[in-house]
Amino acid sequence: MNPAIQGLYFFTRFARSFSRLGYDKRARKWPKQIFDFSGQHWLVTGASGGIGRAIVHQAAACGAQVTAAARSSGKLEQLTAESEFPERIKAAQADLSLMSGIDELAAWLGSVGTPVDVLVNNVGVLLNDYATTAEGMEASFATNLLNHYRLTETLVADDMLDPNATVINMSSGGMYNAPLAVDSLNPGPERYDGVMAYARHKRAQVELTRYWNEAYGDRGMRFYVMHPGWVDTQGVKTSLPGFRKLFKSVLRSHQQGADTALWLAMNRPACEPNEGIWLDRERQTEHVFSHTRNPAHTAQDLVNYLDSF
Ligand SMILES: NC(=O)c1ccc[n+]([C@@H]2O[C@H](COP(=O)([O-])OP(=O)(O)OC[C@H]3O[C@@H](n4cnc5c(N)ncnc54)[C@H](OP(=O)(O)O)[C@@H]3O)[C@@H](O)[C@H]2O)c1
Repeated sequence: MNPAIQGLYFFTRFARSFSRLGYDKRARKWPKQIFDFSGQHWLVTGASGGIGRAIVHQAAACGAQVTAAARSSGKLEQLTAESEFPERIKAAQADLSLMSGIDELAAWLGSVGTPVDVLVNNVGVLLNDYATTAEGMEASFATNLLNHYRLTETLVADDMLDPNATVINMSSGGMYNAPLAVDSLNPGPERYDGVMAYARHKRAQVELTRYWNEAYGDRGMRFYVMHPGWVDTQGVKTSLPGFRKLFKSVLRSHQQGADTALWLAMNRPACEPNEGIWLDRERQTEHVFSHTRNPAHTAQDLVNYLDSF
């Protein structure tokens, strides 16, 4: 499909649903439910700002002990200071774009020794300009996908994920625009397009979620992939200023973006092979464009590729 027509279709179809209007409409039907996460240990990545920060505050307010992982120690200090329950939040300073950062975080969690009941793979960036990490990886690929995989697999291998753990992968509706294309996940600077790179990573998260449910579901773990809707965060402000200007009046609050993650962790709905992507407590379709339905690569190809690092 012509990219301009696809873009127009995307915004026409989803502007209402992904904005605050969609949230408000669906939320009117939700029964009242009190979330209780007492006795649980949560690990939230990208925890010091935006949606991650809202998840940390709400999980802690509902009784969880939360390990909050993010890069800036100043922002992590602020996160704890702002909480009504600072004793329930443990800051873990880590650069999650680095494989070494993941390994240090996992080693530290292992030394603390409390298995993780709920893992929220939330950290994600849309980088308009090509950038590499100190380890030589394209930075958005490393942050959005490779290191979600590395963290989750390491926690499973080290028995640091509780056998009944809930894992929530924070994807995006942007993934509708891209098929699974393993050979385009980590392009060089000459082929780099930040928006498409982000869409491909977010599509890959959907496939990874299905793969994990098949690989580890029989142990009792449940994996979900969700879209928070369009949320007015610093990430959107920095990466999509034109989009933000256009939709500012209907962007969601951080709490609204966080809601489905908390609901999934509380309710743990059964996972199905064609899981779909969760938005506002509902399963939504994984595909809206025909060109994403029959990709050249499989989830196993994706996993083999991620393992190669
Ligand atoms: N906002 C939306 O409308 C929207 C829509 C769809 C999907 N999402 C997804 O939702 C997730 C959260 O988005 P957001 O808008 O809340 O993001 P955000 O406002 O940009 O916040 C990102 C958080 O991640 C941390 N972070 C960034 N790079 C990091 C790194 N290398 N290592 C450790 N921490 C890092 C930041 O902390 P430091 O500054 O301390 O590093 C910050 O706490 C992302 O996966 C995003 O793709 C968001």
